Amino acid sequence: MKRLTVKELLQATSYDETVEVMGWVKTRRGNKQVNFIALNDGSTIHNMQVVVEVDRFPEEVTRRVTTGAALRVKGVLVASAGSGQSSEIQARELEVLGDADPEKFPIQPKKHSLEFLRENAHLRFRTNLFGAIFRVRHAMAFAIHDYFNARGFVYLHTPLVTASDAEGAGEMFRVTTLDAARPPLTETGEVDYRQDFFGRATNLTVSGQLEGELGAMALGKIYTFGPTFRAENSNTTRHLAEFWMVEPEVAFNDIRDNMDLAEDFLKHLIRVALERCADDLDYLARRLQEEEKDRPAAERSMNLIEKLQFVLACPFERLAYTEAIDILRNSKPNKNGKFQFPVDRWGVDLQGEHERYLVEKHFKRPVILTDYPADIKAFYMKQNPDGKTVAAMDVLFPQTGEIIGGSQREESLDKLLRRMNELGVPAENLSWYLDTRRFGSAVHSGFGLGFERLLLFVTGMGNIRDVIPFPRTPKNAEF
Ligand code: 4AD
Ligand code: MG
Repeated sequence: MKRLTVKELLQATSYDETVEVMGWVKTRRGNKQVNFIALNDGSTIHNMQVVVEVDRFPEEVTRRVTTGAALRVKGVLVASAGSGQSSEIQARELEVLGDADPEKFPIQPKKHSLEFLRENAHLRFRTNLFGAIFRVRHAMAFAIHDYFNARGFVYLHTPLVTASDAEGAGEMFRVTTLDAARPPLTETGEVDYRQDFFGRATNLTVSGQLEGELGAMALGKIYTFGPTFRAENSNTTRHLAEFWMVEPEVAFNDIRDNMDLAEDFLKHLIRVALERCADDLDYLARRLQEEEKDRPAAERSMNLIEKLQFVLACPFERLAYTEAIDILRNSKPNKNGKFQFPVDRWGVDLQGEHERYLVEKHFKRPVILTDYPADIKAFYMKQNPDGKTVAAMDVLFPQTGEIIGGSQREESLDKLLRRMNELGVPAENLSWYLDTRRFGSAVHSGFGLGFERLLLFVTGMGNIRDVIPFPRTPKNAEF
């Protein structure tokens, strides 16, 4: 007899056969004669109901069937008489594989706060909510590979340890084997990284883009998908110190092709979520409604599934930074002093509050902003003829704000060198990168999708710490 998952059993169409299933007890209810166990094994949000005639089993066993205990059940699968489930198992054999002392097991069948569950991140997988979130996370990761594979992209593994700073923001974690208390010093008293493991100062990568470009300028279409590290001290609901980024890079694509790719890619992922994660999304949608039921109607979010369908159906608004600044400058919240960061001049960087105003209030749809001032963007972006802006593009989403950042890349060696010089980016360290511009240079473009930002949007969760199994944030690296 084959052991089946709860998901398989719930899809079964033939009954009255003996089956075996293993999982964890969600709840147990009933009376002296008969008990109903809700059993879950993580294969689906739904539980299998196990019916236990108490007389059949020693009290020694049934007593140990408590929330969180691991069980092996053998029994007969029957069509269910009760409402709420299609089938159930009439237990014939019951084995407690692992007890979960109700006095000590923290995850009890009641509502726990997200904060409490973050402190118990090692056990939060056991809740319905985190089961749903991590099944959706898996489905989205798989869909990303599927999308690019079907379109001829090569999955390129770029290094995590690097000596370069792709974004030039300097928010990097140092990787070293030097003794922090007594590092070797140079004659001028600086730390001598020539004596370090790699013979130079190295960091954890902030982006795989620079290496990705090298791949694209030979393989044509590549993507990376891996962990990314930023030591920015922003304790927000949208930032992690370790997050996952997806970075496609395509030779011969200009900024317009890049925008088309980003929009098609995001819509594909949302479509897959709706198709393949229907049960989990349904659960997440109901959770969100429950969470917000006491708020005034105007402050409640759109139903999660309707929101996803809506984004799928509408073309993203595309406009230049300069137009966005005009809209923001004349907006009500700006005039009434409601923005924490007032928009008073061309050239300011946009904050989350500005991005969300454009998306949620002004256009009421996702927005792709292009042609940002060169001074607030990285050195590698294509310089526009106006001499002030670059061919950057940020995709802004409701709730999450920036979900994608990308650009067309500067393909002219001279222009790139001039910009690096202006910004103090040392060309000698990036000689390998510049070789793509020296030999067979061509127009190319790419972008980075923050995987957890996508998951915030798809699951409707409000805090990025709740869509990654073990969040890394300032002062927090437990588990
Ligand atoms: O806009 P960013 O910094 O772009 C790059 O790194 C480019 N090299 C990408 C490229 O063109 N290949 O980051 C890309 C995305 C952001 O839009 C955001 O979604 C996400 O990565 N992101 C973060 N997500 C979570 N926590 C953080 N600290 C993040 N920083 C960026
Ligand atoms: Mg960005």
